[in-house]
Amino acid sequence: MTGGIFILSGAGLSAESGLKTFRAEDGLWEDHRVEDVATPEAFARDPELVQTFYNMRRAQAAEAEPNAAHQALARLQAAHDAPVYLVTQNVDDLLERGGARDVIHMHGALKDALCATCDHRWSAPMAMDVKDPCPSCGAPATRPDIVWFGEIPYHMDTIQEALEDSDLFVSIGTSGVVYPAAGFGQMARQLGIRTMELNLEASGGRFDEVREGLASTVVPQWVDEVLSR
Ligand code: APR
Repeated sequence: MTGGIFILSGAGLSAESGLKTFRAEDGLWEDHRVEDVATPEAFARDPELVQTFYNMRRAQAAEAEPNAAHQALARLQAAHDAPVYLVTQNVDDLLERGGARDVIHMHGALKDALCATCDHRWSAPMAMDVKDPCPSCGAPATRPDIVWFGEIPYHMDTIQEALEDSDLFVSIGTSGVVYPAAGFGQMARQLGIRTMELNLEASGGRFDEVREGLASTVVPQWVDEVLSR
């Protein structure tokens, strides 16, 4: 028993900070079809639209404030007597701004830019432009450092090691439909790790325990329980 806790978060964690989740009833993400803004093909077809879309997401995230769930996870990480691994599918930095450290952004981050030609990474300006040259190689091929559909998520080796170092897997505010993140629960079960879901509504995945409710309520409650043991 390591005592380590592995937390996988999704858009539901940031919903109460005012950032929309992906799979709302209308099937659209901020009025766009996902395939028109979040795929490499979309970027090749219409880079202007994709940059504008992510510029808006970046501006929105900068205005948002961390909520009680982000803050509770940071508190858990600081006070727990074993590692707390924070793996997120979210591209905002609300966990960090809530006080968390070493957040593993498996789907990239709005605050970073990436050169599609030489893979150089740097801090994205608030508004990126398709004509901006890469600061390293000069190619006008700069893109948001976001993992789009069809691309391979980041830090998979670190994530595997973190899971192997944990006794508890907690899925927070994710619908669990996008792989490979959607398979982490099963990986945890295969490793004999206890699994738990905190979500507004149960996602339907297999977990040893499910607690339904707003992240800003159920996450702090659960963190208080863990820290009082
Ligand atoms: N508190 C807790 N959970 C919530 C809340 C809330 N206030 N609001 C919504 N939820 C839950 C929903 O019940 C749903 O299960 O958050 C989940 C959001 O699911 P999605 O919109 O599918 O988001 P996510 O699972 O993070 O998407 C995964 O898909 O489009 C891609 O790359 C993108 O990282 C994203 C990935």
